[in-house]
Amino acid sequence: MTQQRVAIVTGASSGIGMETAVAFARRSYAVVLAARRADRLGQVADRCRSAGGEPWVLPTDVTDRKQVQALVDGTVHRLGRVDVMVNNAGIGLCARVHETAEADLRRIFETNFFGVFYGCLAVAPVMIRQRSGHIFNMSSIIGKRGTPFHGAYCATKFAVVGLSDSMRVEMRAYGVRVTCVCPALTATELFEHSRRDQAARSSFRRFKGLMPASAVARGIVGAVGKNRPEIVFSTGGKLLALVAALSPRLTDAMMWLYYANLTQRLKAD
Ligand SMILES: NC(=O)c1ccc[n+]([C@@H]2O[C@H](COP(=O)([O-])OP(=O)(O)OC[C@H]3O[C@@H](n4cnc5c(N)ncnc54)[C@H](OP(=O)(O)O)[C@@H]3O)[C@@H](O)[C@H]2O)c1
Repeated sequence: MTQQRVAIVTGASSGIGMETAVAFARRSYAVVLAARRADRLGQVADRCRSAGGEPWVLPTDVTDRKQVQALVDGTVHRLGRVDVMVNNAGIGLCARVHETAEADLRRIFETNFFGVFYGCLAVAPVMIRQRSGHIFNMSSIIGKRGTPFHGAYCATKFAVVGLSDSMRVEMRAYGVRVTCVCPALTATELFEHSRRDQAARSSFRRFKGLMPASAVARGIVGAVGKNRPEIVFSTGGKLLALVAALSPRLTDAMMWLYYANLTQRLKAD
């Protein structure tokens, strides 16, 4: 059994999850790395070791509740506790709502929503028993305002916000914190892995001003133990959330300009 603090990070094989795992390793956490690609997790484990942490690789598909339960049970069995659970694994989908296939919608919910839900279900009893712990659920700034081309993705991220808001209040009596993480566009492999509309996908990839994944990781690690209902990144992200809450009509007008501009660019490509 370790006396170290223990963090589980899902989706740790690339992007935000990878940087978050390394950031926890730098703070000397025992870090449990979960995702499907074991080879990539091995590379992340090497980075964690160089950063001073003790990584443990547990390949996991978050769409399978039994595997997520085994991830948490295995961690408790080996390391004795879970201080931080980062339910980060996710996939993208670029498509207009009326062109979205039902199978694609179900698939993205299985990963982005049910993956988070299974993580919460598995870790909640452990943290309740400990009377401590911090759960981070990955949403997005577009989990607070829907944007064109991302209706299905936004729906999963809105669902994560709702789940997290409810759970935060329910877990308070046990000393367990729940924070919803809402990054803006971040430079990761997400766009490479997004399904459907190729043109839209490549257009988002060329978007200027992407945040580095390490900035999101710093935000997560820095919030551990703090009473942060949500972390919204970037000034643009904060402004969007504010304007969307104050004036849905103004936000629609802004979104229309953005959509018209993007549609023009897609035609030109
Ligand atoms: N990039 C952005 O602009 C942005 C903005 C806001 C929020 N986010 C959110 O941030 C999270 C991380 O995404 P990212 O941007 O870092 O993209 P990424 O580099 O593509 O990372 C996604 C991670 O999720 C894992 N994953 C996907 N399906 C999985 C499954 N079924 N089981 C286990 N792991 C799975 C992937 O690993 P394997 O393929 O090895 O399983 C990978 O490690 C996602 O929830 C995303 O929605 C991203």
